Amino acid sequence: MQIQWYPGHMAKAKRMMQDDIKLIDVVIELVDARIPLSSKNPDIDKLANNKSRVLLLNKYDMADSRYTKEWKEYFEAKGYFTALVNSKSGNGVKQVQDIVQKACEEKIARDRRKGILNRPVRAMIVGIPNVGKSTFINSFVGKASTKTGNKPGVTKGKQWIRINKSMELLDTPGILWPKFEDSSVGTRLALIGSINDTIINGTDLSLELILFLSKHYPEALKNRYEIEITDPLENLKSAVPVLEKIALKRSCLLKGGEPDLDRAANLLLEDFRSTRLGNITLEFPFLE
Ligand code: G4P
Repeated sequence: MQIQWYPGHMAKAKRMMQDDIKLIDVVIELVDARIPLSSKNPDIDKLANNKSRVLLLNKYDMADSRYTKEWKEYFEAKGYFTALVNSKSGNGVKQVQDIVQKACEEKIARDRRKGILNRPVRAMIVGIPNVGKSTFINSFVGKASTKTGNKPGVTKGKQWIRINKSMELLDTPGILWPKFEDSSVGTRLALIGSINDTIINGTDLSLELILFLSKHYPEALKNRYEIEITDPLENLKSAVPVLEKIALKRSCLLKGGEPDLDRAANLLLEDFRSTRLGNITLEFPFLE
């Protein structure tokens, strides 16, 4: 699947980020635990190469815990400070403050040697659209302020949020990148709903999902639709009969009684996005 998408406001957001990054000590990056690499904006690595890095695996409640654990180790091996976060329930959010302080320990010690005491750590928060950034910030600001007894308040104009006396947070607009070098990245982003469905062919996308499930989570198709797949499917074409079966099982029928593949595709995507198919991770780590 080829998806190319880069609205003007995203280019502008990137330019703003280039300016803002000079002001900050640490980058807090939110990724989706179901696709930690595909939801990680490669531009950030270039922009933030000399900053401390915190990586939050958000929506871990939707991902497959076996792989989430491996992904955490994967990023830690690359020098990130990491945490598993469920921004919606608030699980794991509270620890982020301590992790950010830890990530900035060297910088705080450097300040101290220069006689600068109690300067708040400045963090920039980044993440692609729909990763859960607003939900995280709301939860984080709430939890951080209860912890310290301070009321959070907006300082220094637009996007700076004062969390407490030891931390200030700079929010940034969610950006996607101009083109996906690997088309499967676009497919994964579309599957989790980070790309507007109106520019995507839902039927093709659902076939990609069936192909993936047949290889890695055949039990999901069995449990939800009573469709048994004994061998992994080989290509998108071989996924069509499975989509037809889903249509028939779920009474998605056209006027003449033919399976309505478009409706079945939407239903399957909805079932995946709402975890009715179970906790599914779409890409797997390998430790280098
Ligand atoms: P954004 O600012 O990065 O664009 O994302 P936003 O916070 O708007 O979150 C996008 C969707 O993801 C929201 O769902 C939000 O509730 C959900 N979400 C965020 N973090 C988590 C998490 O850790 N776990 C789970 N399960 N969901 C999370 P929505 O359907 O758009 O809204 P709502 O129905 O939840 O209100």
